[in-house]
Amino acid sequence: MIEKCAVVTGASKGIGLAIAKQLSVDGYRVFGLARSSAAFPEIDWICCDVTNRDSVVAAFEMIMEQVDRIDILVINAGMGISGAVEFTPEADYRRQFEVNVLGAIACAQQAAGRMRESGGGKIIFISSLAAIFPLPFQSFYAASKASLNAFSDALGIEMKSFGVETCTVMLNDVKTEFTDNRVKTAMGDDVYQGRIAASVSKMERSEQSGMSAEQVAETVGALLARRRLPAHKIVGISNELLGLLYRLLPTNCMLWILAKIYG
Ligand SMILES: NC(=O)c1ccc[n+]([C@@H]2O[C@H](COP(=O)([O-])OP(=O)(O)OC[C@H]3O[C@@H](n4cnc5c(N)ncnc54)[C@H](OP(=O)(O)O)[C@@H]3O)[C@@H](O)[C@H]2O)c1
Repeated sequence: MIEKCAVVTGASKGIGLAIAKQLSVDGYRVFGLARSSAAFPEIDWICCDVTNRDSVVAAFEMIMEQVDRIDILVINAGMGISGAVEFTPEADYRRQFEVNVLGAIACAQQAAGRMRESGGGKIIFISSLAAIFPLPFQSFYAASKASLNAFSDALGIEMKSFGVETCTVMLNDVKTEFTDNRVKTAMGDDVYQGRIAASVSKMERSEQSGMSAEQVAETVGALLARRRLPAHKIVGISNELLGLLYRLLPTNCMLWILAKIYG
C-alpha cells in the first residue's frame, strides 16, 4: 500500500500533537513542524518557525526529499493575545498575525503547488469560533482567525479544479497550554474599569474546562476519512448549535449577546 503523507504544523503540543498522533494511528506518515518537538518517535520532527519564510521553505524541501507527495496539511500552529485594542503594543499584534496568518499562508503556499502537481490534497486550517463570534479584548486573535477562514475559502475555490480541498475547523474551548501561552496586555484595565481582566479570565476559565485535544483530533481524523471535505467544520454538538445561532441571529443581536457575556 502506498504510504500517505500528512504534515501538521504546531505539532509539538496541544491540539497539533493530538492530531499528529491521530493521523499516525490512521496510517499516515506524519511530519510534525514546530520550534520544539515531543517524545513521539512515530512522528518525523522538523524544526520550523512558521514566522520565518526560509525556515518554512527548508522544512517543506526536507519533507519532499523523503516523500513523493503531501496528501494532507493541517495548519495548526498558533498563539493568542488579549487586551484592549488601544493599549496593545504593536509588537504583540504584529506577532499575532505573523504566527496565525502569515505563518499559515507561508505553509499553505509551500504545500499548494506541490499538491497541484501531484494531483490533489487536503489543507485543514485550525480556526476558532472567534472568527465568527468576535470576542472583545481578543480583537486581534479574532481577526487573525477570521482571516484564516476567508483565506481557506478563497484558496479552496482557486484550487478545486486541481483536486486541492480546503477546510477551516472552528474550535471553541479546548483545554491545552494555549491559555498559559497567551500574551496578555492588562494595560488600560483601570480605564476600562476592570472589564479587560474580567472578560479574559472568564474566557480562560471556560477554555480550561473545554474539550480535550484528543476529541478535536478524532474529529479531524474523521473529516479526513471522508471523500470530500466540508468548507467549514465546527467541532462539538453544542458548538455546532452556536454556529446555527450565528446563521440565524441578526448580527446586532449576536454582538449584543457577546457584549453581555464578555463585554
Ligand atoms: N486551545 C483552545 O481553546 C483553542 C480554541 C480555538 C482554536 N485554537 C487553535 O488551535 C491551535 C493550536 O492551539 P493549542 O491549543 O494546541 O495551543 P498550544 O498548546 O499553545 O500549542 C501551540 C502550538 O503552536 C506551535 N507554534 C507556536 N508558534 C509557532 C511558530 N512561530 N512556529 C511554529 N510553531 C509554532 C507550538 O509549538 P512550538 O512552541 O514548539 O513552536 C505548539 O505546538 C491554534 O491555532 C489555536 O489558535 C485553540
